[in-house]
Amino acid sequence: MLERYLTAASTYAHSIDHLFILIAAIVGFWLIAAETIMFTLVFKFRAKNGRPTQYITGEEKHLKRWITIPHAMVLVCDVVIIIGAISVWYNIKQNMPVADETVRVIGQQWAWSFQQAGPDGVMDTPDDIRSVGELHVKINTTYHFELMSRDVVHSFAVPAFRLKQDALPGRTITGWFRPNRLGTYDIQCTQMCGLGHALMAGRIVVETPQDHAAWLMRNSNPAAAGLQALPASPPDGTLTLAEARR
Ligand code: CUA
Repeated sequence: MLERYLTAASTYAHSIDHLFILIAAIVGFWLIAAETIMFTLVFKFRAKNGRPTQYITGEEKHLKRWITIPHAMVLVCDVVIIIGAISVWYNIKQNMPVADETVRVIGQQWAWSFQQAGPDGVMDTPDDIRSVGELHVKINTTYHFELMSRDVVHSFAVPAFRLKQDALPGRTITGWFRPNRLGTYDIQCTQMCGLGHALMAGRIVVETPQDHAAWLMRNSNPAAAGLQALPASPPDGTLTLAEARR
């Protein structure tokens, strides 16, 4: 049912959703209970002709129970929420599954840029694919991301993945996601980062392995990829890889 209103496109999206529902249900129950009791009592003990005002100190045992019992029940609910939150936090933020692929995500005022390995499957080689505002990933593949910022604090958020992580200048923050639904999803910066903050959006395209391979071939630099295949000491008149890079 939820899927109709909230698109979930990563393996951990449902854990976050379930935690939100748990918290909303517990807090909602107490909100309704507290307001119902309060308004019932306000109505019941409203001013009436001929009824003297009561003076209640609340010190008697049977009155104190109205505080202590709900208090203990709220504490039990807190513990339930904390246990749920810690387990979700551990599984998403601390326990990193082994990566199939790695992408680099760089935030700057005011755009997201991405770097990922080209057809050779190795990062930091000339056939790497660099894109701005659009990241292409394979479905059912575990990605590690290396998140950086060139200037100020940004926040990399993909609502459909339930992923949000701040990007800090001078640091590389590693996280992960595993897309499990085909489609194109929004990326939005969620940390105030200047005038263009609201425009610092992007898209993440989750595609099949075939489509992804085709995209890699289309977008990698064929000249650079070809250069890699050259022998270490090329015959005279051929550029070496280092020369070609200059
Ligand atoms: Cu970058 Cu807001």
